[in-house]
Amino acid sequence: MPVATIDGTKHEFSAGERLLDVMNRAGVAVPQVCYHPQMGPIQTCDTCMVEMDGKLVRACGTLAAEGLKVATESARAQKAQREAFDRILGNHLLYCTVCDNNNGNCTVHNTTKMLAVEHQQIPYKPKPYDKDFTNPFYRYDPDQCILCGRCVEACQNVQVNETLSIRWEDEHPRVLWDGGAPIGESSCVSCGHCVTVCPCNALMETTMLGEAGYFTDLPKPALDGMIDVVKGIEPELGYGAILQLSEVEEAMRESRTKKTKTVCTYCGVGCSFDVWTRDRHILKVEPEHGAANGISTCVKGKFGWEFVNSQDRLTKPLIREDGKFREATWDEALGLVARRFSEIKAAHGPDALAFVSSSKCTNEESYLMQKLARAVIGTNNMDNCSRYCQAPATIGLFRTVGYGGDSGSISDIEAAELVVIVGSNTAESHPVLATRVKQSHKLRGQKLIVSDLRKHEMAHRADVFLHPKPGTDLIWMSAVTRWIFDQGLAKTDFLSQWVNGVEEYRKSLEPFTMEFASQRTGLPVETLEKVARMIVDAKSMCVLWAMGVTQHSMGSDTSTAISNLLLATGNYMRPGTGAYPLRGHNNVQGASDHGAMPNNYTGYQKVEDLEIRAKFEKAWGVTLPPKAGLDNHQMIDAIHEGKLKALYVFGEEMSLVDSNANYVDAALAKVDFLVIQEIFFSETCKFADVILPACPSLEKEGTFTSTERRIQRLYPVFEPLGESRPDWQIIMNVANQLGAGWRYAHPSEIYQEIAAQTPMFAGVTYERLEGYKTLQWPVAADGTDQPLLYTQKFAFPDGKAKLFPLQWTEPTDQQDANFDLHLNNGRLLEHFHEGNLTYRTKGIKEKTPSTFVEVSPELAKARGIDNGRWVELTSRYGEVRVQAVVTDRVKGEELYMPMNSTAEPVNRLTSSHTDVVTHTPAYKETSVRMKVLEEEGANPLPRTNSRFGHPTPQMGVEVERKWKRADYHEPGNGLVQIRTPGKSGEPVS
Ligand code: SF4
Ligand code: SF4
Ligand code: SF4
Ligand code: FES
Repeated sequence: MPVATIDGTKHEFSAGERLLDVMNRAGVAVPQVCYHPQMGPIQTCDTCMVEMDGKLVRACGTLAAEGLKVATESARAQKAQREAFDRILGNHLLYCTVCDNNNGNCTVHNTTKMLAVEHQQIPYKPKPYDKDFTNPFYRYDPDQCILCGRCVEACQNVQVNETLSIRWEDEHPRVLWDGGAPIGESSCVSCGHCVTVCPCNALMETTMLGEAGYFTDLPKPALDGMIDVVKGIEPELGYGAILQLSEVEEAMRESRTKKTKTVCTYCGVGCSFDVWTRDRHILKVEPEHGAANGISTCVKGKFGWEFVNSQDRLTKPLIREDGKFREATWDEALGLVARRFSEIKAAHGPDALAFVSSSKCTNEESYLMQKLARAVIGTNNMDNCSRYCQAPATIGLFRTVGYGGDSGSISDIEAAELVVIVGSNTAESHPVLATRVKQSHKLRGQKLIVSDLRKHEMAHRADVFLHPKPGTDLIWMSAVTRWIFDQGLAKTDFLSQWVNGVEEYRKSLEPFTMEFASQRTGLPVETLEKVARMIVDAKSMCVLWAMGVTQHSMGSDTSTAISNLLLATGNYMRPGTGAYPLRGHNNVQGASDHGAMPNNYTGYQKVEDLEIRAKFEKAWGVTLPPKAGLDNHQMIDAIHEGKLKALYVFGEEMSLVDSNANYVDAALAKVDFLVIQEIFFSETCKFADVILPACPSLEKEGTFTSTERRIQRLYPVFEPLGESRPDWQIIMNVANQLGAGWRYAHPSEIYQEIAAQTPMFAGVTYERLEGYKTLQWPVAADGTDQPLLYTQKFAFPDGKAKLFPLQWTEPTDQQDANFDLHLNNGRLLEHFHEGNLTYRTKGIKEKTPSTFVEVSPELAKARGIDNGRWVELTSRYGEVRVQAVVTDRVKGEELYMPMNSTAEPVNRLTSSHTDVVTHTPAYKETSVRMKVLEEEGANPLPRTNSRFGHPTPQMGVEVERKWKRADYHEPGNGLVQIRTPGKSGEPVS
């Protein structure tokens, strides 16, 4: 290993390591105000100046090199560091004792202490700008802003929303939103990156303001007075006294501020972070150590938690009596559930009952739900909402490569030379994962191909944007694959070593000529050939897809086509390659992994396999049903047919999120006995006989599994509200009322049982998942996990993958004279799904108050529609009334409706057609007609919505522009006299 000498001591380093990282690793104390290891050198603060070969250099911006001799404590280096920091204090009022950021992690405070600064040479000068409170989630205080540019770097190059900049040429530079707009009217998506990385109190979460400290909630005049008192001490006593005082206050805070690690409850990216709380008040969400996200979050994970303390929370069991709900005791409610389940089982057999698990709840809870269904009731009628979205992707991978999960990690997507995104609005549905693609595309030359009906953000950024006709992705992918074979460009070595069924598959590609593809997809042959060339030329490719693929009648086959293309081009078994079905809910991967399926126990072990069943019978001490049960879709049919009499649903808003909502509601109204376990009185609750009040993720313990197969622990932030209980306890209560005799004292005991029966999770233990530790399945008994799948072989008995022959069929629910428009639907950044959780965060509701329908400018013109006009959409299955938003995100006769509405849910329009293989509803195959109503209204997207902003892309903070300022000079050149003592106490001048 190469060696550098720092302050006379030799230190080893790795090639490409930054000098500052070497120093930090070695424990050499050097100030570093603008440096954040997850963002790299920004070089704005100059506080990390060190002396190297007689020259002053910034340690953050210098690479370590063999034989380098560095002095951090030389008089010159120390003088430069202190001068640089003095300039920072010229921009920042040190009133730590009454500051909400006085929490031990303020870089300005800590650096003042580290450098033992007593008095500043450059006097503090306020900037001629007001504080900006126009964003509901955070505020900016220019007077406290030290112009370090961390926020700009985070917004430009980590989140890549490109809202923030600093105009270094201005007389009084400050951070600018969209070049100078109020925050609330800018393109800011409230992801919170900037607030997270701000090293001081210039950017603060509004939930912190006046809440974090003992003296920070004073009325403004009193607070200003306190600040004056604090500042008044400084000339006489110096900063040391102020810091000491503030550290006493900080220690007092420490005892009442709780910091708890959790995993985000929204999407499948799996962001994890600390939640800071004081009693039941959420002070802030602090991301830093998450394996999937680091410092990243989106608006939901950073700010979308008000629902937890909502007045609407269910806190007592409810029982329907005479058509009305009344509060009940737990004993009463559980007794009723057990009695009715037993009666129905006795009268109609166990298969007259069905169970739906929640992909928002923990792995342990899904495991217990399927154990309740199978071992206590005796039915395999068990499913979860992966049926609504992800099952086709899983099948596509089972058919071709063997495991039903992402074949690598988010870091592989980041590293790929080419990313292809099909049917996924990644920037809104999987925001933090999208940031990694945006970064690589912006900064590292990654190529991006997007195929989608809508020109969403990723489509805008793409090198090639394909807009095929709805439901034809399978065709263009198969045609591209055929072309690659025909041109002799397929990876034949890889295929002969690792893949079965090549010839049969090639034969199945015969119909997929470029001409056929062009005619059916509407994409020019040249474009398709360009795409094929890009794929062949890329050394590594990842394909990402989501509901735009899976929610079609050919969802499984299109997912298979994706994997076929990856195999034909050798894009498996290496870092930076593979298939990435982006899982929607936080634990939709885990719910299926842990047996909440009609045909599988945990780890996809088949219920119909005699040996496997015998293993579970032995473990659970019962006889188990031998045949696969009903899936969600079949359950609804079975209710209509009178075969299914009881349904137990937990954490799933079936009434709004299942397709053909009117048909689903009719079934829910009809079923003899419906148990709903929920945190709010959802739409589905309206049909319930018993409602059991449960806890959200912040009130319980367990594990979630994210899209990259990453298992992570969450810890309880709060006690359960009122009489609500964690779901695992409620399921155990129900089982025990039915005589099960379960005695789990903690979720870790449930996981021990799972691991013992499941080879895929053999080595998963709570100890191995302690804190921020994670495991990506499969996990061997010794704890070895697999971030990248298929490094040695594919998951088939002979270790080889399979190319799977496919045909294409027309989509269902086609347009005709009566239903002349195509309706697409999906997620919106700000809301999760139907919005039961996110509408309860005031700021989110303010910015995105309702759903709407996107209408193309050409259709709007033809039909006389303006923004805000009410329209009635009618499909073959139902109707809704919504307001229009006219936008070129959609084209021609294609409409788009976000799914965030409880009042006018898009699923009143969707059909009961399904993917043939998995019964996943074909949500994306819906035809409607649109009636323009008289009623006009304001644009359903208010002016404060980020979609109206005008980003200002640039390459990070662009510090070179600061260095060009006439009044800038590198510190340490004697132009400013520093009179503060050095680290060792001696004065430096
Ligand atoms: S988008 Fe907004 S919240 Fe996110 S980093 Fe940029 S300015 Fe900050
Ligand atoms: S607002 Fe931005 S530039 Fe100002 S101190 Fe915070 S991170 Fe640095
Ligand atoms: S919603 Fe998804 S991207 Fe946003 S913070 Fe949560 S896990 Fe991360
Ligand atoms: S830490 Fe190196 S310039 Fe700021």
